[in-house]
Amino acid sequence: MTPSFTYETIHEAYPPVLCIESEMSRCKIALHGGHVLSFVPAGSDDLLWVSEKAVYREGKAIRGGIPVCWPWFGAHPDDPLKPSHGIARVSVWEIAETGMEEGMPFARLILESEQTDREHFDYDYTLELKVVAGETLRLFLTTHNRDARPFPITEALHSYFAVSDIREVRVKGMDGRPYIDQLQQNQTFLQHGAITFGEEVDRIYRTDRPCRIDSPAGTYSLHSSGSRSSVVWNPWIDKAGRLSDFGDEEYREMVCVETANVGPDTVVVSPGACHTLAMKLEKH
Ligand code: BG6
Repeated sequence: MTPSFTYETIHEAYPPVLCIESEMSRCKIALHGGHVLSFVPAGSDDLLWVSEKAVYREGKAIRGGIPVCWPWFGAHPDDPLKPSHGIARVSVWEIAETGMEEGMPFARLILESEQTDREHFDYDYTLELKVVAGETLRLFLTTHNRDARPFPITEALHSYFAVSDIREVRVKGMDGRPYIDQLQQNQTFLQHGAITFGEEVDRIYRTDRPCRIDSPAGTYSLHSSGSRSSVVWNPWIDKAGRLSDFGDEEYREMVCVETANVGPDTVVVSPGACHTLAMKLEKH
């Protein structure tokens, strides 16, 4: 089967979704946000989770898949009125290229400073997202600084993974690593053993190690490069209830393990330089 690149319309006023299909996998990427919505390896269910209540509207981030948080993660450090998790996930990206690389189909999307609101991030840049959809899913988020000044960024590939029962999930590979607990005044603790879930979890792990997510839905492995942090999040019951685009019971079916540079792991990109944050997702 020759890989195909087709477009799907979700709503007439909403930018299209690129669908990449081959005998290895199917992958969907929304131009709104440069947002991977789905990755289904052959013979498997979708590895990514999207809420039944997700809202597809310009300016609103999609709840699920892999939102791109950039050029800041969470609240803006100086201005709480700026959009949470930055501007990339609510901007419309362009397809720069589609093709084949080492036998795998890929798409390259770009977002340029000229396309976004300078009021939020006043630098010249090109942000590039390359998505390689083979038997594994690989993402490369590259920040090119086209400005005359250096700029700081925090960033995350905010992956929502589909799991069948959050109470049975074990995230392995963080044993012995320090983490900042965003629910406990940003105090730092040490992880002992696997991460388990029985309440809301919102933590920044200081790690560049690979990790594994075990659940009854299967085992996913996650490798990264250019990443010094990993955010682990599940809203649990009360926070799920406060989010209008999140079903009350859906916290059971998802976990976020985000390949990132956040908190103290800010990256400064020099003029003319670039920085790449990358992840590889595989189901075993
Ligand atoms: C996580 C953060 O990465 O994203 C959480 O650590 C946050 O604090 C969550 O609640 C979802 O954020 P948003 O802006 O998509 O609702």
